[in-house]
Amino acid sequence: MTDQLEQLVATAQAMVAPGRGILAIDESSGTIAKRLASVNLDNSEAHRIAYRSMLLTADGLGEHISGAILFDETLRQNTPAGPSMVEAMQAAGVIPGIKVDTGAKPLAGFDGEKITEGLDGLRERLAEYVQLGARFCKWRAVITIGEDIPTRTCIDANAHALARYAALCQEAGLVPMVEPEVLMDGTHDLDTSFDVTEATLKALFSALFEHNVLLEGTILKASMVISGSEASDRAGVDDVAEATIDCLLNAVPAAVAGIVFLSGGQGDVEATQHLDAMNRMGDLPWPLSFSYGRALQQACLKEWAADPDHNVASAQKILLHRAKMNGLAALGQWSQDLEG
Ligand code: 13P
Repeated sequence: MTDQLEQLVATAQAMVAPGRGILAIDESSGTIAKRLASVNLDNSEAHRIAYRSMLLTADGLGEHISGAILFDETLRQNTPAGPSMVEAMQAAGVIPGIKVDTGAKPLAGFDGEKITEGLDGLRERLAEYVQLGARFCKWRAVITIGEDIPTRTCIDANAHALARYAALCQEAGLVPMVEPEVLMDGTHDLDTSFDVTEATLKALFSALFEHNVLLEGTILKASMVISGSEASDRAGVDDVAEATIDCLLNAVPAAVAGIVFLSGGQGDVEATQHLDAMNRMGDLPWPLSFSYGRALQQACLKEWAADPDHNVASAQKILLHRAKMNGLAALGQWSQDLEG
């Protein structure tokens, strides 16, 4: 293996080190606007900087957070105290990551389905991100469950884009986090979620193989196999954990450096509970951890937004608590009474 590949593998392993996981704060301009609006704050650059630096400068963040995924602007900004966001992360032992896709757009000819864009010019953008201090990347594909969807075309087109992205990342010395999110939206049952997730993951790993992507230097960001959010009879924690593990064992090669989950609209504790249940299921071929956005930030954002000038410490405390709970869940050592 070349030095660059060895470095990739080491970074990927560090991202899923025991008891640690990823903080996803890579909301695009549109999504962060929605999150700030939900707590009655306007989407100003000052608010985005204040909020995100509050998260990244929480004392002891690196204990349970191995890396954080940023949006483009955050990688270029400074904290109000002076150091850059990247320097604050490095000081905390948190690996800087960057979302590099440019969003999921309607897939022409396929009603209700999406294709993620961002490959044009990606090689040049990655070179700049390396200069700015990023060590891993994220690309999110969106698979929707509905009447007669997803189609094979949508699954394959997104797998192909993910594979081209991953190959470019590794060429640049960046660890690709590949995220094919099967959305929770809808009334579908657990079996449907299983079938769609399995087909999506199989297509993804087939494409990664075709594109010579090194799996030991790749992190899978997966959605759990879970009932639709509007399903009438939603599966319980043990069923979700068992179905997710079955599905991953069927479709994800053991060589993958690690698997981290998105929260996708699950409640904060629900996301922790599911991860914990999976890690209690015994020996698995890959580390299983978290890369939560909403499930790490929801409660913290609410606390901070109530009084951004005075609630920094109390908001950070909430973030650190959720990080710790999820760190324990990544070891299968969480329990409800630790929630306090
Ligand atoms: P959620 O955990 O809020 O789903 O966000 C994770 C993420 O990065 C989705 O791309």
